[in-house]
Amino acid sequence: MDLPEVSSINIIKDLFFYFLGAAVIVLGLVSFYTIFYSWKYRRRKNSKDEEPEQIHENRKFEFWMIGLALALVTGFFFYSLNAMNRIQGVPEHPDPELVIVGHQWWWEANYPKDNISTANEVHIPAGKMVHVKFTSADVIHSWWIPKIGRKMDLMPGYDNYMSIYVDKPGVYRGSCSEFCGDQHGWMKIRLIAHTPEGFERWKKQEHTHAPGEQDSLFYRGQQLFHTKSCTSCHSTIVTKKNPNIGPNLANFASREYFLSNVKKNNTANLKAWLRDPQQLKPGAHMPNFALTTEEVNALTHYLQNLK
Ligand code: CUA
Repeated sequence: MDLPEVSSINIIKDLFFYFLGAAVIVLGLVSFYTIFYSWKYRRRKNSKDEEPEQIHENRKFEFWMIGLALALVTGFFFYSLNAMNRIQGVPEHPDPELVIVGHQWWWEANYPKDNISTANEVHIPAGKMVHVKFTSADVIHSWWIPKIGRKMDLMPGYDNYMSIYVDKPGVYRGSCSEFCGDQHGWMKIRLIAHTPEGFERWKKQEHTHAPGEQDSLFYRGQQLFHTKSCTSCHSTIVTKKNPNIGPNLANFASREYFLSNVKKNNTANLKAWLRDPQQLKPGAHMPNFALTTEEVNALTHYLQNLK
C-alpha cells in the first residue's frame, strides 16, 4: 500500500502561519486607515459646525472590497481543504506498528509486530514514520501532542489511523483532548522518542525480564497481586494484551510516571495509590482494596521490581 509519508506538523504550521500572515495584513490595513482617516478628518479649530457632505455608495469600491474578501476566503478554504487531505490521507493500515487504545483514564500502547503491550509511556523511534492505529475501550478520547501535529480521536468500535513523525529524540508531552469523564484533564500523554538504536534497545529490554530483588517481600507482593485479584484487571506479562482493563504492569518499574503520567513513579506515590486510589485519582476505576500497611509495602516492593 502506498502511504503518504507526510509529517502533519509542517502542514499545520504552514496553514497557521499563512492564516496569521493574512490576518495581520488585513488587521494592519484596517487599523491604519481607521486611525489615519480619523486623524485626517478630525475636527479642526476653525471648522464650522455643520454636517459634512454625505456619501451613500461607491459601487466600484464596494465591488473590489467584496471581491478581495471573497478571493481571500475562497483561497484559504481550498488551501485548508488541501491541507486536511494531505494530513488525513492515511488510510486503513494493514499492519500498524503501534496501536493506541484509550481507556478511562489511561493509554494502552500495543506493538503488534514486536509483541509488546505497555501503558501510558509510549515509545517510538525518532526519524521514522510510525503508523499508528487509534481506538478506544470505552468512550471517545482524543490524542494530542501539540508539538508533533494534529489530534486524533479514539472511538469505541472504530479505528482511526495516523502517521506519527518525530525528528528529534526526546519526550513529547500531550493530553487527552476530548472530554471523557472525571479524570479527562489528567489523562496526560508522554511520548518518548528514541534514536533508532535506542528504540531497538527499549524493545529488547521490554522482553528481558530481570526482576530486581527477588526476596521474600517480592514473593509476598507477587502472591498478593494474585490473591487480591489485581490480575483480573492488570497483566504483568509484556506480551499479554489481556485483560488490560487496567494498565499492563510489565516492566512497571522502568516507567518514570504512572497514573496516566500525572504522578512520579516513586515509593510514596505508589503507596498512597494502593492505600486509597480514589484519593489520588478521584473517579478512577480501581477500587479501594482496603489493604493493610504490610500488604501495601509488599505490593509496592513487588511493583518496583518489575523491570
Ligand atoms: Cu480521555 Cu479525555
